[in-house]
Order: sequence, then C-alpha cells, then structure tokens
Amino acid sequence: MKVFTSQWQTLLTGLLFILCCTFLFLLVGRTEKESPEAFPLLRELSNNPQRSPGPSGDLPSAPEFEWETEPEKTKETRHLGLQPIAPAAATRHPLAVAYSNNYKFRLNEPKKCQERSPFLVLLVITQPQDVDGRKAIRQTWGSESSVPGVSILRLFLIGVHPRFEYPLQYLLEEESSTYRDIIQQNFLDTYNNLTLKTLMGMEWVSKFCPNATYVMKADSDIFLNVDYMVSHLLQPHLPPKKDYMTGYIYLNSKPIRNKAYKWYVPWEVYRNDTYPPYCAGPGYVLSGDLAKKVYQVAQTIKVINMEDAFMGICLHELGVRVAASPWGLFSMVKISYEKCQFSKLVVVHHYGPEELLRIWPGFQDRNETCHN
Ligand SMILES: *[C@@H]1O[C@H](CO)[C@@H](O)[C@H](O)[C@H]1NC(C)=O
Ligand SMILES: *[C@@H]1O[C@H](CO)[C@@H](O)[C@H](O)[C@H]1NC(C)=O
Ligand SMILES: *[C@@H]1O[C@H](CO)[C@@H](O)[C@H](O)[C@H]1NC(C)=O
Ligand SMILES: *[C@@H]1O[C@H](CO)[C@@H](O)[C@H](O)[C@H]1NC(C)=O
Repeated sequence: MKVFTSQWQTLLTGLLFILCCTFLFLLVGRTEKESPEAFPLLRELSNNPQRSPGPSGDLPSAPEFEWETEPEKTKETRHLGLQPIAPAAATRHPLAVAYSNNYKFRLNEPKKCQERSPFLVLLVITQPQDVDGRKAIRQTWGSESSVPGVSILRLFLIGVHPRFEYPLQYLLEEESSTYRDIIQQNFLDTYNNLTLKTLMGMEWVSKFCPNATYVMKADSDIFLNVDYMVSHLLQPHLPPKKDYMTGYIYLNSKPIRNKAYKWYVPWEVYRNDTYPPYCAGPGYVLSGDLAKKVYQVAQTIKVINMEDAFMGICLHELGVRVAASPWGLFSMVKISYEKCQFSKLVVVHHYGPEELLRIWPGFQDRNETCHN
C-alpha cells in the first residue's frame, strides 16, 4: 500500500511539474506577443483607413494620436516656448520647422527619370502606416497610365513614424521593393512636419528629375481627375509654362494664432499678419522649373509649419505670382460624386480610399456618357 501511495505521489508531482512548465511557457509566449509595441501598432494600422478627414480645413487630417505621443520633454518645452519671455538662444519653438537639406533619404528612387522625362510627377503625401490609402491611389487617380500618351510618374512621400519606426520600416521596404514608388527621409512624420515632406518632394525633383515638366503635390484624401488637369490646364501640346503654379487660391489669408487649432502658427514661427497668396494644400500643380526654385529659396528663409502657406511664401520671395485657374476646378469642400460634374473638374477634397475605389470604375466611361 505504501509503495502504491509513493508511486501516486511521484506521478502527481510529475503531472504538476508538466502543468507548471506549460503554464510558464504559455505565459512567456503571451507576454512576447503582447509586447507594448505590437498591440497599439496593429490597432492603429487597422484603425487608420477609417480615420475621417479633418474639418473643412486646407490640410490633410492630423493623426489624432500625434500630440499625445510627443515625448514629455517636448510638451514642456512647447509650453515654455510660448511664454513671452522665452530665452532667446538655443530654444526653438517646438512648432518651428527644423529644416536642413541634410535629411537623408531612407527610401529613394534615384533612377526613375534617367530613362524618361515625365510630363507630370505626382507627389502624394501619405503617412507611413497608410498602406490602404496608397493601394487605393495606385488603383485610381495615381495610376501612371491614366492619360494615354502622357508620361506620368507617381511617388508617395513619407517620413518616419514617431512611435513605430521599426515595425513599419520593414513593411515599407517591402512595399517599396514591390511598387518602387515610395520616397522617405529621416524626419518625423507629423502634422507639423508636413512642410518637410513637400520640400523632400521638391528636392527629389531638383536632384533626380530635373526634366519633369510639371509637378503636382496631392494629399491622399482627394478625388483627382488627372486627365482633365492635363488636357485643360497643362496642355501637353503647348510649350511648357514657366514659373507657373495653380490650384485653389487663398488671398489675404491670415495665420491662425489660436493654439486650439491644428493650423496654429505661433508668432515666433511666422511674424506677419497675412500670408502671400497661396494654393490650398490638398492639390496644387507647379511647373518643374518652379519646383527647383522653391527648393533653392527654401534653403534661405525660415520654414513654417503650414506647407501650403509656405509655398506661397517661397513664391513671394521669388517674385512669382500664383496663376488663377478657371473657377471650380479645385474644390476644397466635399461635393458629392456626380460623374459628369466630376469629369470637368480637377480636385475634390475629402475623398477617402473606400469611396475612391467605389466610384472609380463608373468614372471610366465619362467620355461616352457625359457631353462636353
Ligand atoms: C534633360 O534635358 C536636357 C536639356 O533639355 C537634356 O540635355 C537631357 O538629355 C535631358 N535628360 C533626360 C534624362 O531626358
Ligand atoms: C520634425 O522632424 C524633426 C526631425 O525628425 C524632429 O526633430 C521634430 O521634432 C519634428 N517636428 C515636429 C513638430 O514633429
Ligand atoms: C508681410 O506680408 C506682406 C504681404 O504678403 C508683405 O508685403 C511683407 O513684405 C511681409 N513682411 C514681412 C516682414 O515679411
Ligand atoms: C476623354 O476625352 C478626352 C478628349 O476629349 C481625352 O483627352 C481623354 O483622354 C479621354 N479620357 C478617357 C478616360 O477616355
């Protein structure tokens, strides 16, 4: 009997040991999976496509998590920077854009223009995690073959995600090697760094595609009718325009000095009560020569955090005026989709990836169904 009991005891201890090991193993596995990085990343990645566009403003929506993710230190300095008696030296306002032309390309496409001179380079602003947005744009207005006989080159411009640099970098490298349409520099991809993104685009055109005839900067949340823009504004059969920039033009617009808005521009960053005339950020087009001049002049003046107003400041500095375009071609307010109306305009703001994919197939027979 005694022998029997001790055999049971050994068996039970063994079982208990195995159970403990299994439990520990599972626990370790779980903790690894739930590492602080992976979960919020997946949540944000899956939330991203649904992120609604910003208010009726002139710039793409800022990611909601942006301000929260700022390191504590930045938050403090931001506060300090706003004090009227901010120390003069060494403290830059946190919204002041740190521009230097030595941001390095992490992803680049330096050879794209070696075998051709594109008529139009489409520079599309997206965030690193917006994989779905890029996919939809490639399939719709970003298609390089959308206008027969016209050479179009599409590039997505991105920076470095403030929180998920590495997990995203691997995905981006893969996407980049598949599509060869991503350029990235090593600045933080934040709303207040959008000017750096636009300037990266201008730098790319200056250095790697100086023969581009026109350059368009487009946000990812727009409807864009490239075909109509090419045939009615840019007109490939005519000599290329010089010092040309057009879009939805803001005249006499003023910097927003209220900190509650995402378009807030502190006095320390831009010391003037008005902006020169400029084209609204969601979609504007400029001649290739002007893109190069903008890049050059940006090295010599103070960069501000509103990229579209900054382009206007560069033009003012260059003594170039924005060109008016026929009324209604660029709509900064959302218009509901109507095929024949949309066949005769260029940009409509606030069209997300799902909506684009939904309307695009039906838009293709516009020439047959709409009378011109
Ligand atoms: C760019 O334009 C210049 C001058 O027009 C020309 O000499 C050069 O071959 C062009 N380069 C390419 C890549 O087409
Ligand atoms: C812009 O990017 C630079 C370089 O990565 C970074 O130091 C700076 O904090 C960013 N600015 C904002 C407002 O996010
Ligand atoms: C302020 O803006 C006006 C209008 O754009 C311009 O004429 C003037 O030169 C600007 N002043 C400064 C100090 O930038
Ligand atoms: C529609 O017709 C115009 C000329 O009227 C042409 O330039 C354009 O490429 C056509 N678009 C499509 C999608 O067939």
